[in-house]
Amino acid sequence: MAVQRTFSIIKPDAVAKNVVGEILTRFEKAGLKVVASKMVHLSEKTAGGFYAEHSERPFFKDLVSFMTSGPVVVQVLEGENAVALNRELMGATNPKEAAAGTIRADFAQTIDENAVHGSDSETSAAREIAYFFAESELCPRTR
Ligand code: PPS
Repeated sequence: MAVQRTFSIIKPDAVAKNVVGEILTRFEKAGLKVVASKMVHLSEKTAGGFYAEHSERPFFKDLVSFMTSGPVVVQVLEGENAVALNRELMGATNPKEAAAGTIRADFAQTIDENAVHGSDSETSAAREIAYFFAESELCPRTR
């Protein structure tokens, strides 16, 4: 499997719980490298645009409201099989269904506030990375 990039958000609930470092440690211990990272407080427009594909779903308004409720950390992670590996580390969308030892099982309680987002495919990753980062903000990791 080739080296891939994926996009990750540490969501407002996890930032508020002060577990950004613990979550990053899980990515790093699994072999993912941070190639870009910034803390931002999303506007309604930015969050709504990011989740536009879900705009018809019943939870859309709540999702945008939650994602704009406090700062988040957006980042680009790089590594072998990064998209699937990150999804595995995150666990199921609903923390109640997330496997033991995953980020959502350990740091989240409900589906509305589930600690992290991760791209679901390489295509989504490319779109999501470009939504938040200019090419010049990505720092290739040569070692
Ligand atoms: S997934 O993993 O993307 O297929 O999950 P999906 O069920 O499609 O959910 C898409 C995003 O919506 C969030 N979500 C919710 N937010 C608030 N309330 C409810 N009930 C709810 N259900 C799903 C879910 O966390 C996904 O957000 P991201 O940031 O993509 O993980």
